[in-house]
Amino acid sequence: MDTTNFRTVQHSKTVITELMIPSYANFGGKIHGGILLSLMDKVAYVFAAKHAGTYCITASIDHVDFLAPVEVGELVSLRASVNYVGTSSLVIGIRITSENIKTQVMKHTNTSYFTMVAMDENHKPTHVPGLILENKDEIRRFAEVLRKKEFKKQNKAHLKQIKTPLELESYKHLLEKERCLINFA
Ligand SMILES: CC(C)(COP(=O)(O)OP(=O)(O)OC[C@H]1O[C@@H](n2cnc3c(N)ncnc32)[C@H](O)[C@@H]1OP(=O)(O)O)[C@@H](O)C(=O)NCCC(=O)NCCS
Repeated sequence: MDTTNFRTVQHSKTVITELMIPSYANFGGKIHGGILLSLMDKVAYVFAAKHAGTYCITASIDHVDFLAPVEVGELVSLRASVNYVGTSSLVIGIRITSENIKTQVMKHTNTSYFTMVAMDENHKPTHVPGLILENKDEIRRFAEVLRKKEFKKQNKAHLKQIKTPLELESYKHLLEKERCLINFA
């Protein structure tokens, strides 16, 4: 293995913080989920491009649960790391915390994994540097991505099955205890 083009996880480590201003709020007065998604996408780009040394695009997000609402006036911090590199793809793990500046109470609002792909000047996927793993956590995160990839591969076949159309009677049977009304003859 050619180890000349490898970078450490530390190489791209940065913490990005942003104050949540009133224009970020939704009709309920809390911060829009889309604002947080946009911030995560930016952070994923920064980490991926820093590691790869090229332009990177978002290929997929796995996955986003909003665990707690974020309020106007809170300070959101996004901590991330390059968890995995493949040939042209990188997985960036992002953890978001939100801090009430007055009370300094912190809450964990979500953790997500962005798969980014490094692109060359012709907009084609290009090789990324390998990753030097320097502690147990970095090894665990890399291995977790491998295991998730394997799990996803197996799940894809199950999902295909779910998409296979059924006879109307089978749908009716499946939905009989659900909170829906079938309103056609
Ligand atoms: C991402 C994209 C470049 C992949 O193109 P492709 O023709 O599938 O390229 P490849 O098959 O060579 O895959 C390149 C790498 O991306 C990975 N990849 C592609 N699609 C993926 C997905 N949906 N999820 C995770 N990884 C993915 C592949 O596994 C491969 O990884 P590796 O090189 O580390 O083995 C292409 O689908 C694309 O341009 N998508 C649009 C992206 C975009 O516009 N993002 C902004 C969203 S608003």
